[in-house]
Amino acid sequence: MKRFLLIPLLAIALFSFPLPSPALATDVSNAAKIFNSNCASCHIGGNNVLIAEKTLKKEALQKYLENYNSNSLEAIIHQIENGKNAMPAFKDKLSAQEIYEVAAYVYQKAEQGW
Ligand code: HEC
Repeated sequence: MKRFLLIPLLAIALFSFPLPSPALATDVSNAAKIFNSNCASCHIGGNNVLIAEKTLKKEALQKYLENYNSNSLEAIIHQIENGKNAMPAFKDKLSAQEIYEVAAYVYQKAEQGW
C-alpha cells in the first residue's frame, strides 16, 4: 500500500523539480521535524558527524551518493530506506510518506546550501 502512494508522489516530484512546488512548501515544517528527530543526531546542519566528508551538501551528494546526478530525489530516498554502512535503514521506522518528505527536505536544503 505504501509503495502505491509513493509512485504518484515521485511522479509529481519528478515533474515539479527543480521548480519550487507549493505541495513541498507546505510540508517543510513537518519535514524539518522528521529531520530533527531522525537525522540531525548525525547530520546536524547538513553535516556528517561520523564521516566528515559525506555531508548532505550538494557537492558531497554529487560526489558520494550513488545516482544523485541522474535522479537526486530517488537517490536520497534509496539511502534513507536502506541506510549505508554506519547509517541505519529507515524503512521500518518511517512511513513512505515521511521518507519522501524528509528526502525532499534534504534535496531542497542541499539546493539552498543549508
Ligand atoms: C547514526 C548516524 C546517522 C543517522 C541517524 C542518519 N545518517 Fe545519513 N549518513 C550517515 C553516515 C555514516 C553516512 C555515510 C554512509 C557511507 O557512505 O558510508 C550517511 C549518509 C547519508 C546520505 C548520503 C550523503 C553523502 O554525502 O554520501 C544521505 C542523503 C543521508 N545520510 C541522509 C540521511 C537522512 C535523511 C537521515 C534521517 C532520516 C539520516 N541520514 C540519518 C549517518 C547517519
